[in-house]
Amino acid sequence: MTPALKLNNNINFPLIGLGTSQAKPGEMEKAVKEAIDIGYRHFDSAMIYGNDQEVGTAIREKIADGYVKREDLFITNKEGDTLFPTDETGKLIPSDVDYVDTWKAMEECVKLGLAKSIGLSNFNSQQIQRVLDVATIKPVVNQVECHPYFNQSKMIAFCKERGIVVTAYAPFGRPGSTVNYIRHDVAPLLQDTKLQEIATKRDKTVAQVILRYLIQHGVVPIPKSSNKSRLQENFDVFNFELTPVEISSIDALNSDSRIFTYSLFADLKDYPFNTEF
Ligand SMILES: NC(=O)c1ccc[n+]([C@@H]2O[C@H](COP(=O)([O-])OP(=O)(O)OC[C@H]3O[C@@H](n4cnc5c(N)ncnc54)[C@H](OP(=O)(O)O)[C@@H]3O)[C@@H](O)[C@H]2O)c1
Repeated sequence: MTPALKLNNNINFPLIGLGTSQAKPGEMEKAVKEAIDIGYRHFDSAMIYGNDQEVGTAIREKIADGYVKREDLFITNKEGDTLFPTDETGKLIPSDVDYVDTWKAMEECVKLGLAKSIGLSNFNSQQIQRVLDVATIKPVVNQVECHPYFNQSKMIAFCKERGIVVTAYAPFGRPGSTVNYIRHDVAPLLQDTKLQEIATKRDKTVAQVILRYLIQHGVVPIPKSSNKSRLQENFDVFNFELTPVEISSIDALNSDSRIFTYSLFADLKDYPFNTEF
């Protein structure tokens, strides 16, 4: 069984999830099937990734073939009606819905049996608290960018005190991406000298050291790969443990370098990244 932690609703949350964004058409269906064979039981999808149907097809086929049962899988999705509505000048039309009302609607989804667990993504601490103040069902997770150059130590502590798990997106800093909503001036994390030194000493890869670091901080990483050997590599992180000294030396790499600034949303009233955390 994939190692897992228990969410605040007592549901198992496997400690590694497969990220599914930025894959070419057709890639993720294959990758999800390979991932299930390797042992992945946690998948992170979204309508905006344009391939959640592929993810669904792969999972449905693997269930039909008897490889896996639905109840052993944790599948995350993030939905919206119209993704990015714009006016006639191309400017984003902001939603006037209060996210607290969205949360109440998500609670209805749980009551109707449409979702088992509900959570947040890219919420700052004040926004999380505002949801908690009205919630009758607590968020199970807050999914945020998290890696050694942006280690989210304050967010992790804040969430832990409130029984919320931090899911780490972009654990490798999304190497090689050219999209316009992220920063491109942060040094490539996978080439970090300190991480390379630890990896060499441990006979592991830098990617494995990063994943292990996050897991030992109680965070659940969701690395994306559509390459079979890297899928395996990213899953093989349960047979070693970093020492407290190694963890501290990786903590020291933090430079609060947020890569996913989502600057195109910076003018919106709920833009989350203007507070300390
Ligand atoms: N909620 C949000 O706002 C949000 C934002 C961003 C991401 N996410 C979620 O988080 C997931 C992960 O983040 P991400 O995809 O942005 O970035 P990431 O996981 O940090 O990086 C993915 C990139 O790393 C490469 N890679 C994977 N394993 C590797 C390894 N062992 N060694 C070297 N390179 C490796 C992948 O290439 P190959 O495929 O060729 O292996 C891919 O190019 C996403 O897929 C998505 O599900 C959520």
